[in-house]
Amino acid sequence: MKKITKAVFPVAGMGSRFLPATKASPKEMMPVVDKPLIQYAVEEAVAAGITDMVFITGRNKRAIEDHFDTAYEIEAELASRGKTDLLRAVQEVIPKHVNCIYIRQSEPLGLGHAVLCARPVVQDEPFAVILADDLIDGSVPIIRQMADVFKQHQCSILGVQTVPREQTRQYGIVSSVALTADIDQVNGIVEKPKPEDAPTTLAVVGRYILTPRIFHYLEKVQAGAGGEIQLTDGIAALLKEEKMLAYRFKGTRYDCGSKLGYLKAMVALGLKHPEVCDEFAAYLKSLK
Ligand code: UTP
Repeated sequence: MKKITKAVFPVAGMGSRFLPATKASPKEMMPVVDKPLIQYAVEEAVAAGITDMVFITGRNKRAIEDHFDTAYEIEAELASRGKTDLLRAVQEVIPKHVNCIYIRQSEPLGLGHAVLCARPVVQDEPFAVILADDLIDGSVPIIRQMADVFKQHQCSILGVQTVPREQTRQYGIVSSVALTADIDQVNGIVEKPKPEDAPTTLAVVGRYILTPRIFHYLEKVQAGAGGEIQLTDGIAALLKEEKMLAYRFKGTRYDCGSKLGYLKAMVALGLKHPEVCDEFAAYLKSLK
């Protein structure tokens, strides 16, 4: 029985849809209320019992490394001013038992290539991939839901959701056969099909559990859509050899790689934040 102990966070993309905000720092450091996107993603992994966080970083890596490191000056300053709540918020960014490992993707050659960069650390174990720009709010953290499915089935699992047909060209789209209300067996996957060509409207969003066999296929993948090495192409090859499931997670997804999705996340999580929710709700009401 295998257990998921490693999560890979590809954070080396260009983030071009958010320029100039992403000129000097990765989009995964953009805050939703008071935490950067990458922290929500890491907290999700921690909640699933994952202990090794593998970040695939690029040119602007500093901010992410600093975020998960000890900040001596800030901590000393907060301690001397007696700001204990803020001190705790800074110190509890990541639990002590969790390891952060950083691997550099020297060129943004695509998500598939970013995942392949994790091979020396992941080696021969199943692992999670979390795209921090897909912020998913669920009462049970999504990767934990998927780790539970993995416990039972011991195979690769794709986090999926139904999308409007006109949006299929933004996603990897799976064809599948339903096994239960929320689990399907995958028999095909295509990257960014036109709405009229899409086999279904079941889209893969930024959560995956993959067996290490994926590396074998990612090594062989040629640049596909957009000149990038696509994770979808590796998955398409893997599913010809191994059983693969699609899991309809329980939660609300915000596509924080897009301006509109990011704004929606900010409003939704702002309305839940204990410090500001009441005043923020009153403010939004006053705008009508
Ligand atoms: P996106 O497709 O959202 O691309 O990447 P992007 O470059 O980040 O953003 P835009 O489209 O230019 O605005 C999906 C995820 O894969 C990572 C990104 O950081 C993001 O989390 N990624 C993408 C890499 O780590 N390396 C790559 O070469 C490409």
